[in-house]
Amino acid sequence: MAKKIASARIGTDSSELLKALNNSLPFDKALYREDIRGSRAHAAMLAEQGIISTEDQQAIDAGLEAILEDIEAGVLGLDGDDEDIHMAIEGELTRRIGDAGKRLHTARSRNDQVALDFRLYVLRHDKQIADLLLGLIGTLTEIAEEHAETLLPGMTHLQHAQPINFGYHMMAYAQMFRRDFERFTSSYERNNLSPIGCAALAGTPHPIDRQQTAKALGFDAPTANCLDTVSDRDFALEILFNIATTMMHISRLSEELILWSAAEFKWVTLSDRHATGSSIMPQKKNPDIPELLRGKTGRANGNLIALLTTMKGLPLAYNKDMQEDKEGVFDSVETAELSLRVLTEMLEEMMVNAEAMERACMIGHVSATDLADYLVREAGLPFRDAYHITGEAVNLAESKGLDISELSLADLQSIDGRIGEDAVALLDNRASMNARRSEGGTASERVREQVESMKGWLGK
Ligand code: ARG
Repeated sequence: MAKKIASARIGTDSSELLKALNNSLPFDKALYREDIRGSRAHAAMLAEQGIISTEDQQAIDAGLEAILEDIEAGVLGLDGDDEDIHMAIEGELTRRIGDAGKRLHTARSRNDQVALDFRLYVLRHDKQIADLLLGLIGTLTEIAEEHAETLLPGMTHLQHAQPINFGYHMMAYAQMFRRDFERFTSSYERNNLSPIGCAALAGTPHPIDRQQTAKALGFDAPTANCLDTVSDRDFALEILFNIATTMMHISRLSEELILWSAAEFKWVTLSDRHATGSSIMPQKKNPDIPELLRGKTGRANGNLIALLTTMKGLPLAYNKDMQEDKEGVFDSVETAELSLRVLTEMLEEMMVNAEAMERACMIGHVSATDLADYLVREAGLPFRDAYHITGEAVNLAESKGLDISELSLADLQSIDGRIGEDAVALLDNRASMNARRSEGGTASERVREQVESMKGWLGK
């Protein structure tokens, strides 16, 4: 029986059931690029430090390069019986180059190796997701620029509240996604430290140079404490949290797109490329895409809670429980990247029905607060009294089947003589929106400032 390459103590071949439970190759093969890159940097450092010979290092490097090419070309499949991606590549290397391959694992362990590979993967996607967020923020900002004058009722409790413009609404999302961007970037910066050379848990007696490998792999520095490094999965938890939060934001925008596509609103029309039909009702156009984006938030949350739960209470240092860290992260990363791409494309192609939005402002007396503000400002009334007088104006409008903005001066003065002619113009919805000029408010001029400042931040 062939001896397992990584078991000095274990004599017999493993049970099939053990392999089914234990082997991570079926999923951690996704890390082959990182594994090969890390091994090449490690071998170069070993040779530089005189720990292995230059000939061995050259054989290792050429062997790993060839393995990488063969995997990418689909010539070398990663579907063997190996326990994980680290054993699969080391085994293949040794089959190809002989004894030199057996020297690669000097001064390292799979514990720092997996910490390295997984961290490189997470850091790469921290950046990739941050880039996709920039694209989405750019699209939202463009829509906002185009619709800084497009009136719609702003809501609280999903009830018409005050007139705002669609640009303002889009910029609210742009701000959320900007915070998301900043979270991915700061996670990247915090975690850009090299684990390699930590070995099993305690460092190594070999005269390695962790600064060199850190530099070669694009890290800012080596990590400070090896025991922590092989135990730590915070970097993975961070990307899971960042993705869950981003997906939560995506789900809120998706929910609004679903509502706005409904016949009751008709504020937006999703392009036919982003809608699906019903198998039985020929007239239907369903917003499946935003529904799926909203739905996928569930798995992003699940993946975060799963890894938090796996890590809870684990003693230092590496425990095999930690092999459970990868699938959820891969799933969340794929979900987030696809969701961001789809959402951006869908927004780019969506039609905004400005008239329908504006019409909706005539429901719900959305400028009522302006009458109360007027009475405070012009008649010096306490806000609470002004509020009650305005309530009477709303009741009068209701009884006449009108919106408050349609009441005549005579109507308004029948409620309170202190209401002057100038109040009528203030109740107009557009005037109401443009009156909210306070910093961060909805007035079109303020929204244009927000757009400009976002464009400046985006470097546009
Ligand atoms: N496949 C393992 C994982 O993903 C690699 C590390 C294994 N280390 C060990 N000492 N068994 O976590």
